[in-house]
Amino acid sequence: MIERAGLIWAIVNPDTQLEIEPFLKGYDEVLSTFGFKDWKFFSKRQFKGPNWKLSYDGYLGYYHVPVLHGETFGRDMTNRGVYFTWGPHQHIKTPAMTPGHVATETLGYMAAIADRPEDEWDLETLSYGVWTVFPCISIASFGGGGRGVMISQVIPGERVGESTTFQYYIMENLPATQDLAESAEEQFAFLQEVVEREDIAQA
Ligand SMILES: [Fe+2]
Repeated sequence: MIERAGLIWAIVNPDTQLEIEPFLKGYDEVLSTFGFKDWKFFSKRQFKGPNWKLSYDGYLGYYHVPVLHGETFGRDMTNRGVYFTWGPHQHIKTPAMTPGHVATETLGYMAAIADRPEDEWDLETLSYGVWTVFPCISIASFGGGGRGVMISQVIPGERVGESTTFQYYIMENLPATQDLAESAEEQFAFLQEVVEREDIAQA
């Protein structure tokens, strides 16, 4: 077990030969730009699903988003993703702009700062998108009630057709007002709804 990028990394199989540090391939260095070591725990949820690989599929690409999440995220969401990889871990951004959706602004922003010095880069904007940790963890940025991420772990169950999803909501700052707290709670309730009623139901 080690701590990197403000996260605790562990392998639950005590017989594993895998070493965590080489497995990270530098991904932890990129994730450290979030500054998770100073972030705060907001809430967590837990629910059952089918086979873990199917349950995890929704975190691996945007292809399904405008169709499966048309009623929630909206049908104008892009279905395309651009992938950046560190070993088996990947960061997904969208190549297209979708007005009003923060996660889609990142590629345009990257193009705009390509020639600018690094100390002018806005790391918060660069961090938008979905960060997956192979094989079953995802970190996705959201803004309800302030800057936050949903960290999802999809853990296989006793049988092949069973899994448990753990969702952790971590925020850069805990909501300072009742209104912000309600926005954060709404955001995370919405995300649970989307994952449970759409991704997992479809899986
Ligand atoms: Fe999904």
